[in-house]
Amino acid sequence: MDRVSLSSTALAMSTVQSVGAVIFVLALIGFVIYVLTNVRAGNKEIGSELDLAPNRKPYYDDDQLETTKLNRTLASGVALLGVVAVGLPLYWLNEPGRQKGAEENSLRTFEGRGLETYETGSQCVNCHGPEGTGGQAPFTILDDAGAFVASVNWRAPALNTVLLRFSRDEVHQIIEFGRPGTPMPAWGAGGGGPLSEQQIDNLVDYLASIQISSDDAQRDAQVALASELGLLSKEDEGDTDAEDAAIAQIDYDDLATGAKAFELGETSGVGSGAYACARCHTRGWSIITTGDDPIQPADADVSDIVEYLPGSGSYGPTLDELVPRQFFTVDELAEFISLGNEDGIGYGNVGQGDGMMPGFGDDPNTPEAADDGMLPREIICAIARYESTLRGDEPPADSVPTTVATTTTTTTAPPGADEPAEEASPPEPAFCSDEALEALDQ
Ligand code: HEC
Ligand code: HEC
Repeated sequence: MDRVSLSSTALAMSTVQSVGAVIFVLALIGFVIYVLTNVRAGNKEIGSELDLAPNRKPYYDDDQLETTKLNRTLASGVALLGVVAVGLPLYWLNEPGRQKGAEENSLRTFEGRGLETYETGSQCVNCHGPEGTGGQAPFTILDDAGAFVASVNWRAPALNTVLLRFSRDEVHQIIEFGRPGTPMPAWGAGGGGPLSEQQIDNLVDYLASIQISSDDAQRDAQVALASELGLLSKEDEGDTDAEDAAIAQIDYDDLATGAKAFELGETSGVGSGAYACARCHTRGWSIITTGDDPIQPADADVSDIVEYLPGSGSYGPTLDELVPRQFFTVDELAEFISLGNEDGIGYGNVGQGDGMMPGFGDDPNTPEAADDGMLPREIICAIARYESTLRGDEPPADSVPTTVATTTTTTTAPPGADEPAEEASPPEPAFCSDEALEALDQ
């Protein structure tokens, strides 16, 4: 949504209003003329009412009255009936379109207001970039006593994919309460910020209008992964054939692939970390440590804030021994990463969701469609395999223990499983099995 279409909205509305105004003015002029002529006629030659009194005026003769006059009256009646007969259905036909137009107009108004807040009112644009393409935010590190340690830059994730990973309500909540401990402030009244509920809703409307498609997001993720794995050179980025060839070389079974995907954007910068798990699950990961003068002063000791092991926890919990502590199998873990969680709904074996773990494989705003999120299932399964090796405070294991790398989904037989099932439907293929992945490609 840009300002041009905004002003054309205003123009469209004023057209309807000006047509109404013209009709009103014409009717008013007609009425005034009618009154004036009547007054004039009434003022004629006082005393001459003998000639002028209506009841003394000679009227049409019978012939004229019963033919011309009668016909004219009937004809105008028929004509008016015609206007009603044609006009009403026309109006009725146009009504749904008019209503839809009105809805679109008001949505555009909301988006326009959201854009205004995004760019000028609250300056989200300074950190999250124009059209939500991602950026960075200045951040000051203080020590325990509150003394200055260093100035750094913090990755501010792209928001043009935020509704592929979070529901509208979740995005509303994030904007309302911010992310304590990061540069993202609380904007809503609930978090002590300046914006009203309505303004936050408008921001979400604006964000919805700038989302890229799931296909584009998944493609960006694959290209970035290929590039970070060293399969695609900088010069070849943008060349579709070279990108396709590089993507085809990605070995999703290699734990190194999962490890790179866990930190996607670390070197390629894709989405300013929007695709990464590490920004919520590894403390200090969002602090940019490469490039020109990333940390000021250069000799500041920030080791205790940027040197954490992958998955050791930050905003999101420590990822240790996920399988079988929280998920029985790698496939169940992968399914969780794909769907994310919902506020107040349990997940895994003992997890209690607060809705803040994004769904990376499935857009939570389109319950009717599956696998339309920002990461393709191959990448999600690669991450799940890698994550299942994480041991919290320990460096990741060299290899996946064979006991958890299986793709079996059931470890305990449900009650009554011994009885012969009457309408046995074929079991669902496991989430990351070749079968399931092939079915997706079709
Ligand atoms: C001072 C910089 C700054 C400003 C201004 C700012 N943000 Fe943020 N925002 C951030 C950072 C940094 C993060 C990531 C925090 C983290 O590392 O968890 C973030 C996270 C978010 C997220 C969560 C994204 C995700 O996937 O986790 C949303 C949504 C968001 N911001 C929306 C907004 C909106 C809307 C505005 C304007 C009202 C705004 N932000 C203004 C810095 C900023
Ligand atoms: C925006 C922050 C954020 C990002 C990004 C994120 N997570 Fe999470 N994750 C959370 C939060 C918060 C929880 C805790 C569950 C809750 O309260 O909703 C969680 C929980 C989890 C859990 C369950 C842990 C347990 O012990 O119960 C797993 C597994 C997980 N995340 C994996 C991932 C993976 C893999 C990615 C990247 C593809 C990822 N997360 C990206 C915030 C995030």
